[in-house]
Amino acid sequence: MTQEAAFTATIEKDQRIEPRDWMPDGYRKTMIRQIAQHAHSEIIGMQPEGAWITRAPSLRRKAILLAKVQDEAGHGLYLYSAAETLGADRGDLTRRLIEGRQKYSSIFNYPTLTFADVGVIGWLVDGAAICNQVPLCRSSFGPYARAMIRICKEESFHQRQGYELLMTMMRGTEAQRDMVQDAVNRWWWPSLMMFGPPDAESPNTAQSMAWKIKRHTNDELRQRFVDMSVPQASALGVTLPDPDLRWNPEREHHDFGEIDWSELKRVISGDGPLNAERIEHRRRADEDGEWVRSAAAAHAAKKQGVRG
Ligand code: 3HC
Repeated sequence: MTQEAAFTATIEKDQRIEPRDWMPDGYRKTMIRQIAQHAHSEIIGMQPEGAWITRAPSLRRKAILLAKVQDEAGHGLYLYSAAETLGADRGDLTRRLIEGRQKYSSIFNYPTLTFADVGVIGWLVDGAAICNQVPLCRSSFGPYARAMIRICKEESFHQRQGYELLMTMMRGTEAQRDMVQDAVNRWWWPSLMMFGPPDAESPNTAQSMAWKIKRHTNDELRQRFVDMSVPQASALGVTLPDPDLRWNPEREHHDFGEIDWSELKRVISGDGPLNAERIEHRRRADEDGEWVRSAAAAHAAKKQGVRG
């Protein structure tokens, strides 16, 4: 059996491609692209909520938020490690991010204006991430699928803590309820955009589905997220900002309004509310961390030298 035939047979049998296996260059390239962008999203995703750690309203909220932001850092590290099994270099991936040659999720370019945003990010953004990431536990590339299993367990804590925070605020004052509704109004549509462009305008989906990297299309996962969120919004007592949102008994799904794809295109191309700030923050952190990396490399070389 040729290497190509063995690769194809593994994919068809729903088995895993491992780093040592032969794979088409295009598969390797797509996996590095998707895993790197996922990792970049986790690291940049620390910034919006990180801004609230010093301003959390209680020690309990501060501790929860600290744990969540630390989790996101860990998710980024698992994913960069998965990308390295394909021959990618972590430093090079970081440079590609900083120089705008690789992407990260559009959602993290929006501002977190009040503490209610922390709850809505947990509920909607991490909820969207769960919809997107649970199927990726069955992605064909072994290290990526296995990283997803650990990440999804932590994401469910992220979503629950966000929803619990919002339930608390909705039982509070009218001003707190207004803060929650304002945050929902600002985060709902950008959360739908997290799933990517419509399938008809997605250049990567067909091939990624054929290679079982993606197990569902962008629109399928987006629909699953809408159907999951509507009853949660009703239980919370907030209104989702879409007058066209309604249950369609024929489809057995919720119909929803037209997404402003020009906004997604603008944000992806770097013209979102906070793209420049997010990248500048990442660039500074990378620069500030240079001495740590050099010291660790020098220490490792010395130890190697001692071992001879
Ligand atoms: N933000 C930024 N770029 C996006 C995007 C978004 N919301 N949606 C799509 N794009 C980009 C794609 O990367 C692609 O550009 P590229 O070819 O230069 O990489 C282009 O737009 C066309 O989109 P496609 O749908 O054809 O691309 P994909 O097949 O890669 O699908 C995806 C996009 C659905 C995001 C897919 O890459 C994916 O599932 N990635 C893994 C999950 C992920 O990255 N989630 C991001 C959030 S992580 C997170 O939420 C952390 C949590 O803790 C909050």
